Amino acid sequence: MKITVINGCEKKGVTYKLKEAFLEPLRDKAQITEFYLPRDCPNFCMGCTMCFRAQEEKCKDREYIAPIEKALLEADLLVFTSPVYVYHATGAMKNLLDHFGYRWMPHRPAKEMFGKRAVIITQCLGGGDSSTVKDIKDSLSWWGVSWIKVAKFKLMSEIDWDKIPDKKKGDMTSSLKKLAAKCAAIDYSVPARAGLLAKGKFYIVRMLQTNLGKQNPEYTDFKYWKNNEWIGSARPWM
Ligand SMILES: Cc1cc2nc3c(=O)[nH]c(=O)nc-3n(C[C@H](O)[C@H](O)[C@H](O)COP(=O)(O)O)c2cc1C
Repeated sequence: MKITVINGCEKKGVTYKLKEAFLEPLRDKAQITEFYLPRDCPNFCMGCTMCFRAQEEKCKDREYIAPIEKALLEADLLVFTSPVYVYHATGAMKNLLDHFGYRWMPHRPAKEMFGKRAVIITQCLGGGDSSTVKDIKDSLSWWGVSWIKVAKFKLMSEIDWDKIPDKKKGDMTSSLKKLAAKCAAIDYSVPARAGLLAKGKFYIVRMLQTNLGKQNPEYTDFKYWKNNEWIGSARPWM
């Protein structure tokens, strides 16, 4: 089993401890690759749109994005973590997701994503956990991922791990261990089922791409859809 973790910050604080609690029961059966942001994707997407219009290889940050993308595509389980910063995911996480805009379904989704499983872990002092989950989930689901589990927590007291009451730490840790057990029990040789929402988005975009292709058969995204035979009868899910 392969797990790829995208850590939305580099700090070894509460989010890190929660992520470690989740990974701990999986360590003996999983090959885990971790990325820490912003270290592993330090530059902002500048909106050059080369990825959308030409090729993702033309992105000025391709040296950072390529290994992350490879690890995401090879993983059985994707784990995204972020503390809540002003009601949202960290800027570093948002920046990484911006770099993968071209993988949104209206552009060039990777077919592997339709069968993947993902976990989002976030925590906040008192509010913003749901909007932070949404920040990450929006991208995952537009990449084609349907099986997404969420672990979100409100600390409500202290934001330093050592000062958080033991009962609170125990509750958060045990809920993450339960989620890890659920993830460990999955047979990853069988892809996750693509949900109705993913399929609905796919069919709407397929109509859009078919029309765009009629106007300009050389349009990058149309050619990608055509080469995958998605304009025909092939589908990215099993
Ligand atoms: C810049 C910044 C903004 C934050 N914004 C919020 C917020 O909007 N709502 C909230 O409940 N907590 C907020 N927090 C607290 C964090 O979500 C988190 O609980 C705290 O940073 C501890 O997590 P960490 O050790 O993983 O960084 C913020 C923290 C920082 C550093």
